[in-house]
Amino acid sequence: MISYVKILLIVLSWAARTTAEPKCEACLFNTAPLREDEDCSVYSVYQDTTLQAWYRANETCLQALNISQAAVPKDRMWGICPYANENDASNTLLTLFVRNDNSSAAQSVRSMYPEFFHNETLELNPTVPGAQGQIVNCSVSDDLCWNEFGIFFVLNPEELGRVCSQLHVAQKASLIQEQAAVREALCGATTNDTSLDVCQPLWQQIQDLSVNSCESVSRVDYGSFLPPNCTESEGSGVASVGMGMLTLTLLSSLFY
Ligand SMILES: *[C@@H]1O[C@H](CO)[C@@H](O)[C@H](O)[C@H]1NC(C)=O
Ligand SMILES: *[C@@H]1O[C@H](CO)[C@@H](O)[C@H](O)[C@H]1NC(C)=O
Ligand SMILES: *[C@@H]1O[C@H](CO)[C@@H](O)[C@H](O)[C@H]1NC(C)=O
Ligand SMILES: *[C@@H]1O[C@H](CO)[C@@H](O)[C@H](O)[C@H]1NC(C)=O
Ligand SMILES: *[C@@H]1O[C@H](CO)[C@@H](O)[C@H](O)[C@H]1NC(C)=O
Ligand SMILES: *[C@@H]1O[C@H](CO)[C@@H](O)[C@H](O)[C@H]1NC(C)=O
Ligand SMILES: *[C@@H]1O[C@H](CO)[C@@H](O)[C@H](O)[C@H]1NC(C)=O
Repeated sequence: MISYVKILLIVLSWAARTTAEPKCEACLFNTAPLREDEDCSVYSVYQDTTLQAWYRANETCLQALNISQAAVPKDRMWGICPYANENDASNTLLTLFVRNDNSSAAQSVRSMYPEFFHNETLELNPTVPGAQGQIVNCSVSDDLCWNEFGIFFVLNPEELGRVCSQLHVAQKASLIQEQAAVREALCGATTNDTSLDVCQPLWQQIQDLSVNSCESVSRVDYGSFLPPNCTESEGSGVASVGMGMLTLTLLSSLFY
């Protein structure tokens, strides 16, 4: 009887171990709200020997560490460009972003349109081309010129697509960098700082590796490794628990 309890415990801990492993699926870091892309792993080369699947740190963890590196604020990206093309993109929200945000992502959009922005200062030009081919004088009103900038994207949806594609690339790179910054911070954190419990299970994963250099956890590239292929490992967790259970049942019938 006791031995069966023991076996059950072993099987349960086996199951817990299997399910506690990071997901094979790589995070897409697309603009979709985080909840749609959180049950996934962030991959990077670790100590040149492994392609490590890291748990993804969530927003609560990012806030606890005061790390925020998104190229475009995550809640706004969804409204501006839901996809890496013009589909459902908002020329109005894009114009507001380019006008009011001083980030490098907003500046990079300005640099794409020298008809509207000075090619070096990136300030709005004194005059900009109007939708009817007229010249719009911005010193009369800035608003007139920003309005023309918005209309430009309505008339040229392919340009909106080009901007969205560029913002997506920048956003993805920044979110990957952000996760690496979290890993580096957790690696250097004191292990008894309970305020960082919100960064589990990533924090435990980093502690378990007992790394000698935090630099090794903060890489963002794959090194010489190929992206993970998850088609094979689909459901392998369940399979290995099943195998474990079978083995233990066989063992128990042999010994008891
Ligand atoms: C968070 O980071 C920002 C910029 O890096 C800094 O200005 C601010 O003081 C930090 N806040 C805390 C609570 O550490
Ligand atoms: C935008 O950022 C640059 C450098 O980061 C700074 O010099 C400039 O004053 C900022 N402008 C505004 C309007 O915040
Ligand atoms: C900006 O435009 C001027 C005049 O057309 C040109 O001489 C200069 O090289 C340009 N600067 C950049 C950074 O492209
Ligand atoms: C723009 O308007 C200002 C003020 O009304 C005027 O001084 C300036 O000459 C105008 N610029 C152009 C290019 O028309
Ligand atoms: C956390 O651990 C460090 C070093 O191990 C120690 O100096 C510090 O007093 C500890 N802090 C708390 C709150 O226990
Ligand atoms: C983030 O993860 C921590 C630890 O697993 C959890 O307590 C917290 O609720 C999570 N936050 C969000 C926004 O999901
Ligand atoms: C992933 O592995 C499966 C099964 O081995 C294979 O059929 C598929 O072509 C692989 N995909 C890639 C992208 O390598």
